[in-house]
Amino acid sequence: MLSKRMQQLKPSPTLALAAKAKELKSQGKDVISLTVGEPDWPTYGAAKEAGIQAIHENKTTYTPAAGIPELRKAVAQLIGKQLAMEVSPQQVTIGSGAKFIIYTAFTALLDPGDEVIVPSPYWVSYPTMVELAGGTPKIVECDAQTHFKLSGPLLKSAITEKTKILLLNSPSNPTGAEYSHAELDALAEVLKEYPNLWIVSDDIYNQLSFHPGGLSPHLLHKNPELKERCISINGMSKAYAMTGWRMGWAVGPEAVIKAMASFQSQTTGAPCSISQWASLAAITETADEVKESLVALQERRELFIKLLNGVPGLQVFPPQGAFYLWVKVQDWLGKTYKGKTLVDSKQLSQILLEDVLLAVVPGAEFGTEGYLRLSFAASPEDLKRASERLANFQQQLS
Ligand SMILES: Cc1ncc(COP(=O)(O)O)c(C=O)c1O
Repeated sequence: MLSKRMQQLKPSPTLALAAKAKELKSQGKDVISLTVGEPDWPTYGAAKEAGIQAIHENKTTYTPAAGIPELRKAVAQLIGKQLAMEVSPQQVTIGSGAKFIIYTAFTALLDPGDEVIVPSPYWVSYPTMVELAGGTPKIVECDAQTHFKLSGPLLKSAITEKTKILLLNSPSNPTGAEYSHAELDALAEVLKEYPNLWIVSDDIYNQLSFHPGGLSPHLLHKNPELKERCISINGMSKAYAMTGWRMGWAVGPEAVIKAMASFQSQTTGAPCSISQWASLAAITETADEVKESLVALQERRELFIKLLNGVPGLQVFPPQGAFYLWVKVQDWLGKTYKGKTLVDSKQLSQILLEDVLLAVVPGAEFGTEGYLRLSFAASPEDLKRASERLANFQQQLS
């Protein structure tokens, strides 16, 4: 019955794990879930009010496929300021979440057989989205020595005549690694040798950066000429705590943005009108709340790193942004727990969920074995309890 494409499609593993954790919770089990990538604090007041007001004012009809002009303009100003360049509203399309926008960008750019360079560890959905859009993901392993980031030589060695897109994600989900200006420059040098190669830059965590200033370096900061072939993706989910509102956008050359909006006009129709008005208020009125959230996140980051560093056999890679700890568990693999040998990160996370009631995502889902991803967008109490459970678990290993 199902198409071949759908038969091959597996559901998002992070959402599946979060659902399993919720199911156990609903059975009365005291599960701590550090799986899903979403803030644990609520949407800011100004955004909520603007959403409610939009409903009362009957701003509940279809909007233009690319979004309401007011929001396109606000996004153009916000991203223009962040990238330190002129961005016009025509270079912006609003969409139903960054996830759908990334898929839309792939659809706009890829022909069958075109390759997309995906540095690994990667966000779980990238390879599947590339395939759904007809392209071929080319996974490029990046190791701990470069803090899991792509280098110039590695990029160059991955490029073939079929390469159409380089996908960048800084700060990264799952590692929290952020490219420095120098690292981005090294990539830019290579990119300049290949004028037909596009860059899709997933900047969804750029305002959740722990370095001074709270904004991540961007490829276009020092290499503005690449803007002719760069699509910057962002949205409301992370910094503005608006995951359920499903709001994202792309900023890029007008011709591609227009094509993406046409695709939206034939698929989602238009992004949610209410969410757009709420997003407008969030962007224009909640900069202070974003900063406060970042301070709280930084405290949790420090706390969780300290706690996990105290658990024998875990190696934490301190993140420079986002809200995940990427933790090496290689030393635990090969050990025995209740008579069972721990063989890989999937089995380990299964045992942690069922026996320890701690839900985390196995590194294998991000293309890299021997690691777990733990979100620290959780209360300090839960972070403490989670580390206690991991320490108890470790004591039972032989
Ligand atoms: C790297 C990355 N890109 C994109 C998204 C999608 O965000 P949205 O909620 O806007 O679809 C996520 C969400 O987890 C993410 O981690």
